[in-house]
Amino acid sequence: MYPIRKGRNMGELDEIIEISKRRGFFWPSFSIYGGVAGLNDYGPLGSVLKDRIYREWKSIYAEIGGIEIDTPSVTPENVLKASGHVDRFLDIAVGCKTCKTKFKVESILADKGVESVPESVESARKMIEEVKVKCPKCGGELGEPFEFHLMFPIDSNGERYYLRPETAQGIFVNFKLLLNYNRGKLPMVVYQQGKGYRNEISPRQGLIRQKEFNMAEVEVFLDPETNSVFKPDSNEKITLLDRDGQTHTKSLVEAVEEKIIGSEDHAYFLQKTFEFAVRIGIDRNRLRFRQHRKDELAHYSKDCWDLEFRMDNSWVEITGISDRGTFDLGNHQKTSGENLSFEGEKIARVIEPASGIDRMFMAVLISAMKKRENGYNNLSLVDYMAPYPVAVLPLQKKDGLPEKAREIFSKIKAIEPYAYYDESGAIGRRYARQDEIGTPYCITIDYDTLEKDVVTIRDRDSTGQITGVPYKDLLTHAPFLSNPILRRIKNSRQ
Ligand code: GLY
Repeated sequence: MYPIRKGRNMGELDEIIEISKRRGFFWPSFSIYGGVAGLNDYGPLGSVLKDRIYREWKSIYAEIGGIEIDTPSVTPENVLKASGHVDRFLDIAVGCKTCKTKFKVESILADKGVESVPESVESARKMIEEVKVKCPKCGGELGEPFEFHLMFPIDSNGERYYLRPETAQGIFVNFKLLLNYNRGKLPMVVYQQGKGYRNEISPRQGLIRQKEFNMAEVEVFLDPETNSVFKPDSNEKITLLDRDGQTHTKSLVEAVEEKIIGSEDHAYFLQKTFEFAVRIGIDRNRLRFRQHRKDELAHYSKDCWDLEFRMDNSWVEITGISDRGTFDLGNHQKTSGENLSFEGEKIARVIEPASGIDRMFMAVLISAMKKRENGYNNLSLVDYMAPYPVAVLPLQKKDGLPEKAREIFSKIKAIEPYAYYDESGAIGRRYARQDEIGTPYCITIDYDTLEKDVVTIRDRDSTGQITGVPYKDLLTHAPFLSNPILRRIKNSRQ
């Protein structure tokens, strides 16, 4: 399914895709029937890691008083007509006359160094001619560009619906009920996790470009007449690439003062987004913010900054923080005839940090993956993100060690449900397996355990071991990772 380059040509992305399939993070869906490009399954480890990413995201927005809702994926046409998606959620595509592969015109132009989004089929035709683009796959002649709708329609009983292209609309249409819940007060922060769907013309790169994906969207409703209520306060210098192509290394506080970012509210949610990425273990040195050029703004957006992650020496958007102004509520009020104003006639303005959780998932794995000198992989996930915080391993499969190990494992499992047990194969291979799936601590049961009830704790990142730890001391804290013994180990990591 996934084309993977082997050996020395293997990029970071290829490597993560290969490990993910082998170890159970994710793999192509429906593979026994040949698979479908752009559809993927999360395996046993990936499902847990994805949930942990969502957990951290929710806690960031719950911390600032956000409220959560959960609305349907299947959306009636009138909602998406009002939101502008039915008429304007299109890409311009082109097909190869020889191999018949279809491409997004914007992407093949970008591959040729032309950063521009064609506004119409006519302008796409001109740009393809000027840049002399050929088929990126086979070098063949390209055909006529055409409009390609990005939503999946569903027709049922004479009614048209679509699979939602974003979870955001489920929040906007509930504005009145949510405002009532929030005692009529703004600002109001509402977040929703869920699937989004886009008929990607050329899905690829594992979880990066998919037809069905996991979204984490926040709609922040603000009084348009009140000065910023959310203010950035971080002094960390961050790379900001503005829409004119200028790079700034500034804190978000400075970026507002110097008018690189339009408002404090907007900058604050860039800060929250950065905080979320770093909290889940994405390498801060691989992150930058990039402002959309005017020609690439979504139809609902007045301004947008993307948080981008560097992968295989190119940049991938992992979150867009958009200023949607009053576009959505204004349109839904007009179309539905319902009053969606507050305090008289005012329509709330909206800032939206919208994360692609699958892309963040890839960024977490790529950031964490380290090669040891012996060539083995070490997935150095932040401890609280690891699918298994701890594995219990008998040193050998004899002399009563497995029995003792299972007894201790069942006690650990009572305080840490995600504890893992493994007794098959040589201990070195079992450590290597846990390292590759990111388990931060292994508890080894050896002959001293039989005699003195003490175990060895092995630390994933340093591979250092502490011997002689009374196993009962590991049962005193729940969750398991809050045990002070582990904190000491963690602090001594190089
Ligand atoms: N709601 C933002 C997006 O669809 O990308």
